[in-house]
Amino acid sequence: MKITAYTLVLGMTAIASTAYADIEQGKTKAEVCAACHGLNGISASPEIPNLAGQKQEYLINQLRSFRAKTRLDPTMNVMAESLTDEDIADLTAYFSSLAAASAKVPETVPTHNNRATPVEFPEPAYVTLKKAAEVEKFPGELVWKGGPDMLYNAITPDGKRVLATSPSSNTVYVFDTKNGEQLAVITVGKAPKGVKVSPDGKIAYVANEASAEISVIDLDTLAVVATIPVEKGPHNSRFTKDGKLAYVTLQGGAGIGVIDTKAAKMIEVIPVPGLKGPHNIDLSADDKTAYVRDIANHIAIVDLKSGKTRKIIKVGNGHGGIDVSPDGRFVVTGAIGDTHISVLNTKTLNMENIEVGNGPHGVRASKDSQWIYVTVTKDNVVAVIDTKTMQIKKKISVGQFPFWVSVLGNP
Ligand code: HEC
Repeated sequence: MKITAYTLVLGMTAIASTAYADIEQGKTKAEVCAACHGLNGISASPEIPNLAGQKQEYLINQLRSFRAKTRLDPTMNVMAESLTDEDIADLTAYFSSLAAASAKVPETVPTHNNRATPVEFPEPAYVTLKKAAEVEKFPGELVWKGGPDMLYNAITPDGKRVLATSPSSNTVYVFDTKNGEQLAVITVGKAPKGVKVSPDGKIAYVANEASAEISVIDLDTLAVVATIPVEKGPHNSRFTKDGKLAYVTLQGGAGIGVIDTKAAKMIEVIPVPGLKGPHNIDLSADDKTAYVRDIANHIAIVDLKSGKTRKIIKVGNGHGGIDVSPDGRFVVTGAIGDTHISVLNTKTLNMENIEVGNGPHGVRASKDSQWIYVTVTKDNVVAVIDTKTMQIKKKISVGQFPFWVSVLGNP
């Protein structure tokens, strides 16, 4: 069947010769564009724009400018060189007929101008893109090639390096934040998940989930200098401000492991009854309280001195990150099996759910606590929430499966 569509450009004399276009032809011609823009017009790479659902007149103008080299891009200038006006009409009719990626974004969210701004990212943030195997830096949206399944990441306190785990290759990638250069790929234990850097910036802890141990990386030599055996399924860790202790979530079920960092030894396990597989953890500003997220749908508030679980609170389904805002006002957690994040007021213990899209996992507040960043894994966006209103300010399109976000100044 042949589908023809009259374009909305009849009034524009410049393209009067393309007054009608053939969507079906356009689809065939678009096969050469598909490698980059996707046959559905949704590109898989953060550097290549989506074309689906874009206004046809706009697309025509861009292709003509590329062809005339009044808009310069080495790739697109070559691509457009051989296109006739008819090709342009067909191609643009096809791409503009497709459903836009932003159709998934709730209408309250502005879809224009969705790039990160320095106002929204007063300190740099880094997002690990699991399926794209990349790390993306905000603001700037610079993308660095990493290893398979880039999962968790952490920044050194001086902001100069980012470490990211690759569980399927049992390695940790170390990037120079100046230019994204890979400084090292360090082999650690089995299935490395969470990574954290000590407050003095000297070492990093990597939780090896399948080998029940922590790899200790020396950040001067970029080598593993110690291995600390723990209980089953260590997933992530958190150092205290003085760096003397680190708490490790033991997803195998035991609770939270307490590590004496000087002795490089687990000295205690704090059980957390009521949690199903402790997954991620953060501490209150005074280091006295732990907020622990499990893999099911709970967070636990644990008094670290007594080792008592003060409260178990139900949140969204599936595992997720957890963060205590640097000002201590709230605790936020993701829920990969759900569409909302939960924000808990630490004083009143009131909880507010914020709809963000499909599969929110990573959550971090900015250092000044004004913003919350959420990696929405299945929608391939990073949601930026203004904590003054608890409303989404923006959704930023990123590569496939954004899993974790780290923020300088909020370890
Ligand atoms: C090798 C990768 C590649 C291929 C193949 C490719 N493009 Fe592009 N295209 C790009 C990149 C990269 C940009 C962004 C250029 C820039 O930053 O100015 C772009 C930009 C565009 C734009 C401008 C979009 C905007 O929002 O301003 C249009 C329209 C476009 N391409 C159409 C096409 C069409 C039609 C084809 C096939 C005939 C095609 N492209 C093939 C990589 C590609």
